[in-house]
Amino acid sequence: EAQHDLAGKQIMITAGPTYEKIDPVRFIGNYSSGKMGFALAEECAARGAKVTLISGPVTLNTRNANITRIDVENCEQMYNAAIEEFDRCDAAILCAAVADFRPENIADKKIKREKDDLIIRLCPTQDIAAELGRRKREGQRLVGFALETDDENANAESKLKRKNLDFIVLNSLRNKGTCFGTDENQITIISADGAKAYPKKSKDEVACDIVSCLSDIMS
Ligand code: C5P
Repeated sequence: EAQHDLAGKQIMITAGPTYEKIDPVRFIGNYSSGKMGFALAEECAARGAKVTLISGPVTLNTRNANITRIDVENCEQMYNAAIEEFDRCDAAILCAAVADFRPENIADKKIKREKDDLIIRLCPTQDIAAELGRRKREGQRLVGFALETDDENANAESKLKRKNLDFIVLNSLRNKGTCFGTDENQITIISADGAKAYPKKSKDEVACDIVSCLSDIMS
């Protein structure tokens, strides 16, 4: 039987990629499947929380009736939904692989091929995690993810501070068969207290470990 250690809690989760439009038929995106975020949403709901799942474009379904889903396409929409929700939440888990840059202008017609090259100027998107970190009130908890290709722990630690997170989940790209699109993940959880490395597990089991960590620091 599932523990109900999150009964009465409101938790927001961001998941999936964002798509930043180039023209009516093209976008800049990434390989995030949303599986980790959706597993986190199911785990929180199974433990009694009410969950708002803000998801970028994915091909996944939610099962638990205590998950309210908000589907978005781009960073701006995800940002607006997250800002709107966060105020009434006890915690947020920011699992989305948000685009860091978007095309400065969206072409209103399909860009034609008859050119020697194509330069698309990009500008930065809003950092949802950093903004929620600024807005975080006493007692609210904020969890982020980090996917690094080098200096993993140092980069994750600097994000922890910069975005005012309670802990950060470092996703390893070094192990084969983990991370993007797969059903397994190998994580390290980094907080002000230090780092804890977990073995490679299914995303459902990883979700359980992450939610247990969160539950431990919620009052
Ligand atoms: O800086 P970086 O993108 O690596 O930080 C990753 C963390 O910040 C993740 O938790 C991710 O969901 C969050 N993030 C965000 N908005 C962005 C970029 C990242 O919420 N624009």
